[in-house]
Amino acid sequence: KQLQIAIDGPAAAGKSTAAKKLATRLGGYYVNTGDMYRTLAWAVLRAGVDPRADEAGVAALLPQWDMHYRPAADGGLQLYFNGETVRQDDIRAPEVAAVVSYIAQIPAVRAWMLSRQRECRALGVIVMEGRDIGTVIFPDAKYKFFVTASPEERARRRFLQKGEVADGATLATVAAEIAERDRIDSTRATAPLKPAADARVLMTDGLDQDAVIEALLARIAV
Ligand code: CDP
Repeated sequence: KQLQIAIDGPAAAGKSTAAKKLATRLGGYYVNTGDMYRTLAWAVLRAGVDPRADEAGVAALLPQWDMHYRPAADGGLQLYFNGETVRQDDIRAPEVAAVVSYIAQIPAVRAWMLSRQRECRALGVIVMEGRDIGTVIFPDAKYKFFVTASPEERARRRFLQKGEVADGATLATVAAEIAERDRIDSTRATAPLKPAADARVLMTDGLDQDAVIEALLARIAV
């Protein structure tokens, strides 16, 4: 059986935790497309190409590269880049966060991602998290959610996530980094961040993680 549930929304809105738990509750796979963009950003940096200044250089790297999610021993999915497993430590680094939105607005990058993300359909029941899943990747997804929170709340949540903020970061610098990514993500020409017309918008300020999951589950019948 194939079924797609799309969860979109801005940075640090609590999408990942909710999507992961939802996938477990539904017996499906959680697919994190942010990790795919982060992996590409990490690989571009490693290749010595500047994603802010050299879009053509980034596009030129893509034909030699590949990326896939495959079922892993723990029942979840493992992301592979050119046949090697992707390490979370590498892709959650602040240097990657600083450039990922520049990579993600390059049309050739989005086209490259589109086919790889649509391939995930074959995995069966999937809860896919990102920015354009309900609008572009799976416009026919059976369920679509837009999970969000106020900028202040999102900055606070990200600030509390150890390992994802730079040394010496303050609540203010984290808020600024998130605001900058929001700006780039929502104003880009290709697949800008916005709720699909038929998405349920869930504002999560004041909701704990369990409350978010219950709110999602309450709208899903499988
Ligand atoms: O975890 P966090 O909320 O910080 O972001 P993420 O989901 O890891 O995504 C990182 C960045 O990748 C976003 O800020 C977007 O620039 C880009 N992205 C995207 O453009 N489209 C997606 N479907 C997923 C991520």
